[in-house]
Amino acid sequence: MPHSNNLAGRHVIVTSGPTREPIDPVRYISNRSSGKQGHAIAAAFAAAGARVTLISGPVEIPDPAGVHVVHVETAEEMLQAALAALPADAAVCAAAVADWKAKSIATHKMKKREGDDELTLTLVRNPDILHTLGHSAARPAVLVGFAAETNDVVDYARGKLQKKNADLILANNVGGGAIFGAADTHLIAVSETAADDWGALDKTQAAERIVSAVAGMMRLRVS
Ligand code: CTP
Repeated sequence: MPHSNNLAGRHVIVTSGPTREPIDPVRYISNRSSGKQGHAIAAAFAAAGARVTLISGPVEIPDPAGVHVVHVETAEEMLQAALAALPADAAVCAAAVADWKAKSIATHKMKKREGDDELTLTLVRNPDILHTLGHSAARPAVLVGFAAETNDVVDYARGKLQKKNADLILANNVGGGAIFGAADTHLIAVSETAADDWGALDKTQAAERIVSAVAGMMRLRVS
């Protein structure tokens, strides 16, 4: 890691993985996020000397070394862990947070009854962690999010940047297929004034690039 990325004394929050939203004691709503990208980002910040709080949903990959990991299940728990980890110099929201949760969680396992051929679940919106951090009084100086888009990638990413009050949105063009669990990624770094195509990178290279970008933005803000 180049000297310019020396982040000793800086605290960085990273969210990673999916969230899991219970329906009843044995069932949940989730998604296929592997946590690979978020965990690689946490490891890269640690390698650059930062103190890292990684807030991870349920994943099958190991905790990165040298990182403080808070394990959570739901979006609400992820939000509370992120708020509890403040203050931070930077936050990178890489988690694939479930947008919806069950309006009520059944206390007992939901049983099917003879003749039932439909089930209606009522879902309500989950809190948006990136948006909450972006509008918090303790907003980290540098705030980074992700976006998955199939079309109008830069326009949609910039819309998210503005709505969530982030400094950088890393847009994944998912038009060509799935990225969850994949080793490679193709990011376009969208800020208020620029859209920089980083090309195809593996997730470790992408993480190092993100650390460099965040370190650069920190220097602009602090020095
Ligand atoms: N995010 C979050 N909390 C949520 C939802 C999203 O922190 N409840 C963060 C993600 O970690 C990511 C960014 O916000 O950094 C993604 O924003 P979102 O609007 O969910 O983008 P998409 O997943 O691309 O959603 P959409 O299908 O609405 O385009």
